[in-house]
Amino acid sequence: MLVLDNLKKWYPVRQSLVSSLLKPQSLFVKAVDGVDLTLKKREILGLVGESGSGKSTLGELVVLLQPPSTGKILLDGVDIASLRGNELTSFRKRVQMIFQDPYATLNQRFTIYQSVVEPLVIHGIRGEEARRQRVCLALERSGLNPDDSLLNAFPHRLSGGQRQRVSIARAIVLEPGLVVADEPVSMLDVSIRSGILNLLSDLRRDLGLSLIFISHDLSTVQYLCDRIAIMYLGRMAEIGPTKQVINQACHPYTRALLGAVPMVDPDVKRERTEIESEPPSSIRLPPGCRFASRCPFVTPECNAGEPELVEIAPDHFVRCIHPRLEPVWY
Ligand SMILES: Nc1ncnc2c1ncn2[C@@H]1O[C@H](COP(=O)(O)OP(=O)(O)OP(=O)(O)O)[C@@H](O)[C@H]1O
Ligand code: SF4
Ligand SMILES: [Mg+2]
Repeated sequence: MLVLDNLKKWYPVRQSLVSSLLKPQSLFVKAVDGVDLTLKKREILGLVGESGSGKSTLGELVVLLQPPSTGKILLDGVDIASLRGNELTSFRKRVQMIFQDPYATLNQRFTIYQSVVEPLVIHGIRGEEARRQRVCLALERSGLNPDDSLLNAFPHRLSGGQRQRVSIARAIVLEPGLVVADEPVSMLDVSIRSGILNLLSDLRRDLGLSLIFISHDLSTVQYLCDRIAIMYLGRMAEIGPTKQVINQACHPYTRALLGAVPMVDPDVKRERTEIESEPPSSIRLPPGCRFASRCPFVTPECNAGEPELVEIAPDHFVRCIHPRLEPVWY
């Protein structure tokens, strides 16, 4: 359904007059730096990485909130950069985004009805009754009872979980085929997170949605996603089926992320990969492996050139010249 082909988003860095005179050069923050990815129909892909790895930027490129610097995004074989007029409008209906902060995404001066009906109005869906039915259906599908007291309420009257459900209703009211959810549960209480995750899973089943689920938390992603993509400094470090990535993670960075997940059962043991320090700046990336400055397994060969993504098992790709093959759990 979706193909990303060598996608890049580089933001130019403004320099002071003095430094540009002393050392004239063009510097860029390489937020997304050569991503190749595919997403199948009805697939849920988890996109995981630490803060600043480029997850949100990648999500915004996919929904065309901003254009890529280079590379292609193909939706059902069509390059979305070429879309104009009606085709672009139709793309905007098909692809939606759910944001992290349900407090900020809803207009506080709109009632719940006005918030959810707005996309229908913008896309020219006619008929007050038809619109009302679609709003009620979207709210119902999102696990809310669309009675008058909800429809006429303002967002401040709702709990965080209810507001996120309204944001989801707003995203699905146009019946999109692809949704990018950017950390949709990270601002919610732990007790209501699982309800939202179950809802997203039900929407995939009932509406046939494809979903890119962005998170910095591997423990959340593993319950929802078919595949997991681990992003580090603008590029994929590891991609594979969820079970494979959780049980047989090969990239040291993935193993470090797994080691940070709290364990419920004290008898279950796992290998711990400790990493320290901050990632290097994405403005001046090292010539070799991007993870080398933090990797406990680094060798001189790692600095010779950036490793390619290599298929280590069916559909499981790793960007490391010394992939860890021992089991994560024992
Ligand atoms: N508009 C912008 N201009 C310049 N740099 C930007 C811009 N947007 C993002 N960046 C930079 O791009 C990099 C990736 O940012 P992004 O927000 O995509 O990361 P993220 O993985 O979503 O992080 P988080 O987990 O904190 O949300 C960061 O270094 C960020 O500072
Ligand atoms: S290529 Fe080398 S530095 Fe990079 S992750 Fe693998 S072992 Fe670590
Ligand atoms: Mg983000």
